[in-house]
Amino acid sequence: MITPSALFEKFKGVSLLNPLCAYTMERCEKIAPQINRILELKKEKNALILAHSYVHPDIIYGVADHVGDSYGLAKIGKMAPADLIVFPSVRFMAETVKILSPQKTVIDPNPNGGCSLADSIAATQVKELRKKYPKHTFVCYINTTASVKAECDVCVTSSNVIQIIEKIPSDKIYFLPDKLMGENAKNLLQKRGVHKEILTYPGTCYVHEEFDAGSIDLIRSQNKDALVLAHPECKPEVVAKADVVGSTTQMQNFVMQRQKENRPFVLLTECGVASRLAMEAPLARVIGGCTMCKYMRSNSLASIIEALESPRSSQIIEIESSTLERASICLERMFHYAE
Ligand code: 13P
Ligand code: SF4
Repeated sequence: MITPSALFEKFKGVSLLNPLCAYTMERCEKIAPQINRILELKKEKNALILAHSYVHPDIIYGVADHVGDSYGLAKIGKMAPADLIVFPSVRFMAETVKILSPQKTVIDPNPNGGCSLADSIAATQVKELRKKYPKHTFVCYINTTASVKAECDVCVTSSNVIQIIEKIPSDKIYFLPDKLMGENAKNLLQKRGVHKEILTYPGTCYVHEEFDAGSIDLIRSQNKDALVLAHPECKPEVVAKADVVGSTTQMQNFVMQRQKENRPFVLLTECGVASRLAMEAPLARVIGGCTMCKYMRSNSLASIIEALESPRSSQIIEIESSTLERASICLERMFHYAE
């Protein structure tokens, strides 16, 4: 049992990047019973809660067992001994854990678990593309549905896209669905002297495509020693101006390691990462974006309670067996190339 005052003590360093949204005693009194109920249900059901860094701090600091990026959480979900995994993030992340550990019950409590990338392409479109480009190796971003993964050869995440495309023996790649990440991979590989044909599908992340190169110039003109970190879902002209390109966890680790340097770290990703750093790397001077992912932010303590008490059938991940088998080959190839 956590008391509202203990919660207040724990949450007082949490930054919601807006002083009007700070954790007050009143807010802690309101959420303490919800947090306690989740902790009780977790114990009773031997459940593990995984959460992406973009979800609300109520979840990250209140109830999650592990917080991270899509690669790290997929790996934890696969290895964890728990029978029940509750994954308040987005649908494709919960589906990924189910594909990797079909014997586990995986629950997605999010009432709006979409993702502008995962929703941009269906399996039928991949089948058509494969007919059109029979010589290409189909590489999909993890931000895809299970049925799209089932039609592709290798999966990647933002933490390993460059490394995996470089290692794949083929030099003809069809990358989907993130057009910007595909272009970034091509440019970054070219810089390393690796020249592959990389065709792309026209999907984008509605959060990351909003960052523009001009704002980086503006920040640099005001902060000469700023270090700019960009997610590979950003536009190529943004990535070209960044000092570091990586997944949300890679960005977070970079800032944690160098937090003592008295210089600003500019984070071009959803504001959840800057908010985590304000709590977990208090020495760092972080300039974060103000954009939130509406899909990740649809998760709440209330939806987790509902899902743990009596999940609706739409919250329990079920994947048809042949789709699951084929999607699992695509994902296991990712681990093969990444590890
Ligand atoms: P990460 O794997 O880098 O956390 O990215 C997932 C995502 O959806 C970013 O928008
Ligand atoms: Fe999808 Fe973009 Fe949200 Fe990530 S931030 S889950 S890519 S919509």
